[in-house]
Amino acid sequence: MKFDVKDLKLAEAGRRRMEWAARSMPVLNSIQDKFAKDKPLRGVRISCCLHVTTETGNLMVTLQKGGAEVALTASNPLSTQDELAAALVKYHHIPVFAIKGEDNATYYRHIDQALSIGPHLTMDDGADLVSTVHRKKRALLKNIIGGTEETTTGVIRLRSMASSGVLQYPIIAVNDAKTKHFFDNRYGTGQSTLDGILRATNVLLAGMNFVIAGYGWCGRGLATRAKGAGAQVIICEIDPLKALEAVMDGYRVMTMKEAAPLGDVFVTVTGNKDVITRRHFSRMKDGAIVANSGHFNVEIDIPGLKAMARSRRIVRPFVEEFTLRNGRKVNLLGEGRLINLAAAEGHPAMVMDMSFANQALCAAHLVKKGKKLEKKVYGVPQRIDEEIAKMKLRSMGAAIDILTPQQKCYLAEWQEGT
Ligand SMILES: NC(=O)c1ccc[n+]([C@@H]2O[C@H](COP(=O)([O-])OP(=O)(O)OC[C@H]3O[C@@H](n4cnc5c(N)ncnc54)[C@H](O)[C@@H]3O)[C@@H](O)[C@H]2O)c1
Repeated sequence: MKFDVKDLKLAEAGRRRMEWAARSMPVLNSIQDKFAKDKPLRGVRISCCLHVTTETGNLMVTLQKGGAEVALTASNPLSTQDELAAALVKYHHIPVFAIKGEDNATYYRHIDQALSIGPHLTMDDGADLVSTVHRKKRALLKNIIGGTEETTTGVIRLRSMASSGVLQYPIIAVNDAKTKHFFDNRYGTGQSTLDGILRATNVLLAGMNFVIAGYGWCGRGLATRAKGAGAQVIICEIDPLKALEAVMDGYRVMTMKEAAPLGDVFVTVTGNKDVITRRHFSRMKDGAIVANSGHFNVEIDIPGLKAMARSRRIVRPFVEEFTLRNGRKVNLLGEGRLINLAAAEGHPAMVMDMSFANQALCAAHLVKKGKKLEKKVYGVPQRIDEEIAKMKLRSMGAAIDILTPQQKCYLAEWQEGT
C-alpha cells in the first residue's frame, strides 16, 4: 500500500486521540454500526480531501466499515495531525497522503495520489479534488458517480462550475445542511478560531479591540465567543443586512480602513480575497495580530505584507513578526491559513459529529441515487438533515414535543383565525 505520512511511530498517539474524539461522536458511531451491518458502500472507492484530523479519522473508519475503499489527502498544508495520519495507515490500512507543513508542490502531488485509486465518489473540503479531476484527470470522470463538499468556499466554487456548464458530476453540498453550517461553521469555527489564536499568542482577549471581517456563519460564532471573552468586537462587512444584524447584535460596524488603526487582533472569515491589504497594514498599531479562519490563505494580502516589511522573523510557533518600514510590527498567525487548524486542532469532535454524519449518509445516498442525479450542486436531502438532528438530540438526552393531529391540521389550513 502506498502512503506518505510523517512517521508511523506516531500511530499509537493517533489511535488514542481517535478514541478520545469518538467518545464525542455518538451520531457517527451509530452510523458506523449500521454501516458495518448493511455495507451501503460495498465496493465503492472514495477519494477524500479533508483536514486530516482525529474526527476525519473516525469518518474514514466509518466509510471503511460501510464497505468502501478510501484514500485520504489533506485539504490544507498546515491542518494535518501527523499522529492521526500514521494511525490510519498503521491500524486501518488506509492510504493517507498528508504531512503537516508540506509545501505546495507536495500538497498537489498528494491530491494526485489520493485520486490514483480511481474513485467512484470524491469527498472534498474546498473543491480541490473536483477541480483537479476536471482540469487534469478527466479520464477519471467515467467512473465517478458524484461527490460531496464540506465547506462554504468549496460550494461557491462548485456552483460556479455548475452555472458555467463545466461540472461533470453531481455534488451534494454538505456545508448547506442545517446540521452542518448552523453548528460547525458557527460554534465550531467560533470556538476553535479563538483557541488557535490563544494557543499561538497567549494574549489576554479581555479589553482588546477584536476586528472580524465577515459576519456570516463563522463570523457570528466568532463574535459571540470573542465578546464572551471580554473583547470589544468590531465587525467589517460588505452585505448591508449582515452589517445591520451585527449592529443590532451589539457590535460596532465600520470599514476595514476605519478599523485598521483601532484593532489589536484582526480575523478574516469572509471566503473572499484581499480583505486586509497594504493600505490597512500601514495604518495598524504596533504589535497588531492578524489571522485568517476562512478557507484559503488569500484573505490577507501576504505578498503585500512581505513587500512592506523591512524584516521578518518567527517569534513563536505560528507567529511571524513583520517589521514594517514605518517601524511598527504586524504579527501574522499561521501563514494566513485557517488558524483554528494550523495552531489548534480544528473543531471539537462534538460538532464534527454532525458534519461527518452528513458526509457518511450523503456518500451512501450518492451510491444509491447518484446515477439519476444531474450534473449540478444539490442540497443535503431534508430527511438526512432531520434524522441527524434527531439522533444528536437523543444523544444529548434532549426530547422534543410532537405535534398533535389538531396542531398539524391548524398549521396546514387558513380558515381558522381569531
Ligand atoms: N475555519 C474553519 O474551520 C472553517 C469552517 C467553516 C467554514 N470556513 C470558511 O470560512 C469562510 C466563511 O464561511 P461562512 O460559512 O461564514 O460564509 P458566509 O457566506 O456565511 O459568510 C461570509 C461573510 O463574509 C462577508 N464578506 C465577503 N467579502 C467580504 C469583505 N471583503 N469584507 C467583509 N466581509 C465580506 C459576506 O458578506 C458574508 O456575510 C469560508 O471560506 C468557509 O469555507 C472555515
